[in-house]
Amino acid sequence: MVQAAVADPTLDLFDEIERLKKDLNAVILAHYYQDPDLQDVADFIGDSLQLAQAAASTKADTIVFCGVHFMAETAKILNPDKLVLVPDLKAGCSLADGCPPDAFAAFTAQYPDHFVVSYINCAAGVKALSDVIVTSSNAKRIVERIPADRPILFAPDQHLGRYLIKETGRDMTLWPGSCQVHEIFSEKKILQLKSRHPEALVIAHPECEQAVLDHADHIGSTRSLLNFTVDSDAKIFIVATEPGIIHQMQRQTEGSGKEFIPAPPDSSCACNECPHMKLNTLEKLYLCMRLRRPRLEMDDDLIEKARAPIQRMLDWS
Ligand code: 13P
Ligand code: SF4
Repeated sequence: MVQAAVADPTLDLFDEIERLKKDLNAVILAHYYQDPDLQDVADFIGDSLQLAQAAASTKADTIVFCGVHFMAETAKILNPDKLVLVPDLKAGCSLADGCPPDAFAAFTAQYPDHFVVSYINCAAGVKALSDVIVTSSNAKRIVERIPADRPILFAPDQHLGRYLIKETGRDMTLWPGSCQVHEIFSEKKILQLKSRHPEALVIAHPECEQAVLDHADHIGSTRSLLNFTVDSDAKIFIVATEPGIIHQMQRQTEGSGKEFIPAPPDSSCACNECPHMKLNTLEKLYLCMRLRRPRLEMDDDLIEKARAPIQRMLDWS
C-alpha cells in the first residue's frame, strides 16, 4: 500500500510555501471558499471568473490551484504548456459530477438548434459540447448577448438557470443539476434569523433555491457578495453561500463592527461548508509544491475543444 506523504510537523509551512513558490516560479490562485490559511498564502483570491482571468494572464511557469477540479482544469485549458498543481485531485463539485459528458451529449442531441450555455462548474467534456461558458458573475450579461431568436439550453445548475430566466426573460431548457451546498440552505432558519436580527441584510449566491433567493437583499457571485458587504452601510449580514467567503468579508471590513452570520442548512448538521473545497489543506498545498504532484493533466484534443467556449466567455466578459 502506498503511504500518503506527510509534512514534517516542525516546518513552518507558510515559509516553506514561500520558498517553493520562488523555486517553481509559481503563482498560487485560491477561491474564496478555501480555508483561511490557503487564502492567506495565495497570491490571488477570487471568484470563478476572476480566477479564470488570472490564469489566462499569468506569466508564472507553474499555477498552483487551490479550488476544485473544474477550476484547475480551466486554468490548464488556458495554459496547456504550464505545470498546474492541485493540493488534492479529488476535490470535485456536485454540479460537475452530476452532469457526465456522455449524458450531456445525449441531452444536447435532442436540441440541435439550441445555443448551449454551460456554467463553468462542469467537466471539460461538457465545456467541449458548449457554445459559451458563463460564471455566476457574467451569466446575465452573456445570456443577454445571445440572439433573441436562438433557443437556449442551460446546464448544469437548474437554480442559477431559473434565476437567469427571471432576470433576462429568456426561455431556457435546463439540465436538472444542483449544488449540494447551496441547495440545502433553510428558508425557515433564515426567516428565524431575520426576526432575531431585523436590521440584517440577507445576501445569497444564485445557486440557492428560489425560496431562499426570494428573501435576499442582494444576489450575486462570491465577489459580488463580498463587494456588497464592503460597500453597504448595514452592520449585520446573513450570508447564504459557502462560509469560506466570510474570511475575506471580515478582513475587508475590519474595524467597521460588521457582523456576518452564516445561513444555516436545512438539516440537523450546523455545517454548510463545501466538502470538496475543504479537501484542500495547507499541508497538502505544501506537499503538492514540494513533490510537483498531483498535477492536472489533460488530453490535447479535449483542451482544444474546451478552450473555444471559455475564450468566448473571456471575450464577452
Ligand atoms: P463563484 O462564481 O461565485 O466563484 O461561485 C463558484 C462556486 O462554486 C459557487 O458554489
Ligand atoms: Fe460545487 Fe457547490 Fe462546492 Fe461550489 S459549493 S464547488 S458548486 S459543490
